[in-house]
Amino acid sequence: MDAKTPAESRTTLTDLVLPSETNPLNNLFGGELLARMDRAASIAARRHSRRIVVTASVNHVAFNKAVPLGSVVTVEAAVSRAFKSSMEIFIDVWVEDRESGQRSKANEAIYTFVAVDETGAPIKVPPLQPETDLEKERFAAALRRKQLSLVLAGKLKPNEATELKALFE
Ligand SMILES: CC(C)(COP(=O)(O)OP(=O)(O)OC[C@H]1O[C@@H](n2cnc3c(N)ncnc32)[C@H](O)[C@@H]1OP(=O)(O)O)[C@@H](O)C(=O)NCCC(=O)NCCS
Repeated sequence: MDAKTPAESRTTLTDLVLPSETNPLNNLFGGELLARMDRAASIAARRHSRRIVVTASVNHVAFNKAVPLGSVVTVEAAVSRAFKSSMEIFIDVWVEDRESGQRSKANEAIYTFVAVDETGAPIKVPPLQPETDLEKERFAAALRRKQLSLVLAGKLKPNEATELKALFE
């Protein structure tokens, strides 16, 4: 299988924050942002694999900045590393200033998707070839994030998480 670049899976979703999507402080409700990120990430995973994909895990979410009612929110997702059947997707969330149009980073998240066949069984995906410095940085750290996720899910013994252990040595 030929390698693909993150640019080939990059997916951008831009939408408004409407009143029905806010919390009592009139900021975007966290669950609504999780759904938008899941949608963008699933399209990125599908573009990389050209397969049916399912969310296997939400590895990390940081709601760093509240997103006020009426904001224009852009969710950008791209595959940051592909393993055998799983893909790590990095998601950056941007908010656009109404007057200047300048974008500032509001949140980020990391999801894991798995490509499956029609019976739901995991299936191989193409490798990822990072190009930019940021893509290379995200690629390099992805294996320890996968190991951490598997340890937390009880699917990998901590003493087998070699890449993760190396962080503390
Ligand atoms: C995701 C799913 C296909 C994994 O199936 P599984 O039986 O655990 O299969 P495997 O053990 O072979 O794992 C498949 C891949 O997923 C990865 N994986 C599984 N759980 C993971 C987790 N919690 N974190 C990170 N990766 C995970 C494995 O490491 C493996 O990756 P690799 O093939 O690239 O090495 C299965 O659990 C599933 O269908 N879950 C439901 C998905 C769903 O419906 N999502 C929507 C939520 S409502």
